Amino acid sequence: MPALVLLGAQWGDEGKGKATDLLGGSVDYVVRYQGGNNAGHTVVVGDQKYALHLLPSGILSPGCTPVIGNGVVVDPSVLLSELSGLNDRGVDTSKLLISGNAHIITPYNVTVDKVTERFLGKRKIGTTGRGIGPTYADKINRVGIRVQDLYDESILTQKVEAALDVKNQVLTKLYNRRAIAVDQVVEELLTYADKLAPYVADTVLVLNQALEDDKVVLFEGGQGTLLDIDHGTYPFVTSSNPTAGGACTGAGVGPTKISRVIGILKAYTTRVGAGPFPTELFDEDGAALRRIGGERGVTTGRDRRCGWFDAVIARYATRVNGLTDFFLTKLDVLTGWEQIPVCVAYEIDGKRVEELPYSQTDFHHAKPVYETLPGWSEDITKAKSFSDLPKNAQNYVKALEDMSGAPISAIGVGPGRDETIEINSFI
Ligand code: GDP
Ligand code: IMO
Ligand code: MG
Repeated sequence: MPALVLLGAQWGDEGKGKATDLLGGSVDYVVRYQGGNNAGHTVVVGDQKYALHLLPSGILSPGCTPVIGNGVVVDPSVLLSELSGLNDRGVDTSKLLISGNAHIITPYNVTVDKVTERFLGKRKIGTTGRGIGPTYADKINRVGIRVQDLYDESILTQKVEAALDVKNQVLTKLYNRRAIAVDQVVEELLTYADKLAPYVADTVLVLNQALEDDKVVLFEGGQGTLLDIDHGTYPFVTSSNPTAGGACTGAGVGPTKISRVIGILKAYTTRVGAGPFPTELFDEDGAALRRIGGERGVTTGRDRRCGWFDAVIARYATRVNGLTDFFLTKLDVLTGWEQIPVCVAYEIDGKRVEELPYSQTDFHHAKPVYETLPGWSEDITKAKSFSDLPKNAQNYVKALEDMSGAPISAIGVGPGRDETIEINSFI
């Protein structure tokens, strides 16, 4: 029955971790369906703060089974250290399930990610350097290593050999690096086999049976709509599909099973890494959003680029994901601005454009057309219902809802679980 997708509606870091954790208490399964440890999801529970990279945020809810789906790329060393870090803090991780079909980020994929970025120089993507792109490239090239390969040494060796055949040529001849030894990689990968074995499962079967049994399944996206390999600001994107369709392929669940698609939307916009960003601010307002919003990457520690809310990309996210709801986050960060500009359209080569242009060239030329909304100065972090918000904050939310094309069903007014205004219930 109810399968919900929760995904980023912008360029990532919208507050997906907090939103997932909030729902975690009412769902049976939380599933990551794409990406890997390029994600950094912050969850604040009471006075405890957790930074999750690979594990679904549902891991912090005792009744919930966390699942790493087939569409995810898994760095085993990162996964094991994340698990032991949580165990040390008293979190039970024993329910975790990992798809045997998920691909493994091998040490050579991380090397290739880093050397490729260095080679690109000024044209670099600004990746997280975690080997994400090269691992997905191997998957598509059919030379990837999957979790299940850890349990057949001979197959594993053949596959690593096949993958390194070409890569070692490139590493030594093009990038002037040392060749990577097959035996060394195989040996390292085999050390993970026993440690991961208790978690490996046929997650497609488990999830479909759970849905048949009327369990509630929540799919937690990493990254965001505009970082999607197909629908984002290509080539400045990640190498997977965070958009709603990715939940189906990345978990093996049919689209007919999905009942709700929730877009997590920050009350302003941020981006990490290179690529176009029409509402980016280079002035004191941008610095203030970064400071007040704590906009520093959870994974790489890079400062996030900050700008005003962009309704054009929110509308686009509604369309490509079929969003049924928005969860608006970080409204509290905007407290104190007398006037808040909101981008309602773009001007491209002198013409007003209401929708995201499909042409990369046009998008690079897009200049924001702003409408300015009156701000508020009252502290909103204790607000529990929509009517607790100052009138101008209410009007800001309503304006964003009208512009973005789906109802705003929850509003974040602080990082904590309880710092949330629920308008329509999600489950
Ligand atoms: P994710 O990658 O989408 O999970 O988002 P990140 O965790 O990378 O970044 C979101 C940041 O905003 C985290 O530090 C959260 O704790 C914080 N956060 C989430 N929702 C709110 C909110 O409503 N208000 C404030 N002030 N912070 C929030
Ligand atoms: P969460 O889940 C923000 C960005 C990188 C880079 C591009 C490609 O926390 O929202 P990659 O390493 O994926 O090949 O890098 O994507 N990026 C993110 N930006 N939040 C994320 O995850 C991101 N994951 C990747 O900065 O621009
Ligand atoms: Mg993040």
